[in-house]
Amino acid sequence: MSKSTLSRSSIISSKDKINDLVKLAGWVANKRDHGKVTFIDLRDETGLIQCVGINNKLKDLTIESVVEVFGKINKRPESLINQELETGEIELFVEDYQILNKSSELPISIEDDGLNINEESRLQYRYLDLRRSRLQKNLRLKSKLINAFRKELLDQDFVEIETPMLTKSTKEGARDFIVPSRLQTGKFYALPQSPQQYKQLLMAAGFEKYFQLARCIRDEDLRADRGFEFTQLDLEMSFVDQPTIMNFLTNLVIKVCQELGVKIKDENFPIFDYQEALTKFGADKFDLRSPEDKKEGVLAFAWVINFPFFKKVDKNDRAEASDSKSAWTFTHNPFSSPIPEHIAAHLEGNQTEKIIASQYDLVCNGFEVAGGSLRAHQAEVLRATFRTMGYSDEQIEENVGHMLKAFSLGTPPHGGIAFGIDRLLMLMAGEDNLRETMAFPMTAGGRTSVMDAPSAVSDEQLAELKLSVASNKKSS
Ligand code: AMO
Repeated sequence: MSKSTLSRSSIISSKDKINDLVKLAGWVANKRDHGKVTFIDLRDETGLIQCVGINNKLKDLTIESVVEVFGKINKRPESLINQELETGEIELFVEDYQILNKSSELPISIEDDGLNINEESRLQYRYLDLRRSRLQKNLRLKSKLINAFRKELLDQDFVEIETPMLTKSTKEGARDFIVPSRLQTGKFYALPQSPQQYKQLLMAAGFEKYFQLARCIRDEDLRADRGFEFTQLDLEMSFVDQPTIMNFLTNLVIKVCQELGVKIKDENFPIFDYQEALTKFGADKFDLRSPEDKKEGVLAFAWVINFPFFKKVDKNDRAEASDSKSAWTFTHNPFSSPIPEHIAAHLEGNQTEKIIASQYDLVCNGFEVAGGSLRAHQAEVLRATFRTMGYSDEQIEENVGHMLKAFSLGTPPHGGIAFGIDRLLMLMAGEDNLRETMAFPMTAGGRTSVMDAPSAVSDEQLAELKLSVASNKKSS
């Protein structure tokens, strides 16, 4: 076969092509010049192979250039076999090659795990950073995780439905990111902190089992396990009670972990009362792993239930202070239902501090990886929640009138949950920071990878939106 008729094959498939002519393409991972002979390691997404060039072939290649090589796969002599490499028993003897893109000197090294390089540089050149094998592995695992969830849910007759990104404030306890409207100047959309209200409206619409891989956007203090943007596996089911849905979710997590080959400490996820967790662990998230489990990369899941519905507003927390009009605000989200025994007291607005929400959080290795609840599906219950938070009838109507209306038009009882996909992956991949699981995360200071945002917009854009930017400079 000639060079022009041969199509590109993967590096890993070369193992079965000894004495064949092949065409490979990829990146020059490294290069060794030995006088007349030049060796390169060529890398594609399937692996690495040693290529041998003689008579000045390959000499002009620079590290990380993209190159197409054509030649014969040879078995290496016994003494030159590289046990470390999957293709260590073979090499490609280059007959011809072509540079597809020449790389200049790299601004950051991509050889090791990259954890010693400063974050600004790694994120400025994120497309290079992502070439390192650790991040390649993480993102490929994320794709598998998402697909394992999706497959399981589709197999169980869930329907995948998207909900809007330009919407109204959704109250998940963080500040909103807002977007100005051009057609209705002076008005703003909010980006969704979660699809909470839409998924409940889908229950009203008669989709009894819904899920979505939802991008959520929250303006909150950034931490190792918290980003402005993140992905939830969001799901909701009609006609369920709390033990049924928790059992369903436990099995879902077990199946997804099996699919990925991730080991679980105890498949009977222990269930703790919120108060019990506080007494025992001093927090509502805790790590049940032994030192041995930690070494083996085991995941230890547990449920926490019986959370208080309300807490006293922290006046220093701007989102809390603006969500609530009284001394009380919700602990998780205002759309939950109290446990059945507490509904009567809730409707009367009594014993606010004692009302327990039908909330269930999934904890894993010291982090909260998912949170969900049975919801209010009757208008009075949701109205009572907002009354406790000090909302007047008009304010309730303005904020959640659309939900109250839906709850008066045949909304079934329902409940659901959202898994933090990035956080779950962080634990599966043994990473310490959410950013190591995202393709283009933000810096700790809230700047985007590679592209320069946030940035100023033109005066024309501002004029069209009828916005003006107040000067940041303090008047002296
Ligand atoms: P909650 O706010 O608990 O619930 O979010 C669900 C899960 O999403 C993850 N998560 C985050 N991950 C990364 N960065 C963040 N800033 C961030 N915030 C949350 C966590 C968390 O457990 N609407 C409800 C879900 C429901 O009740 O169905 C909600 O959004 O892993």
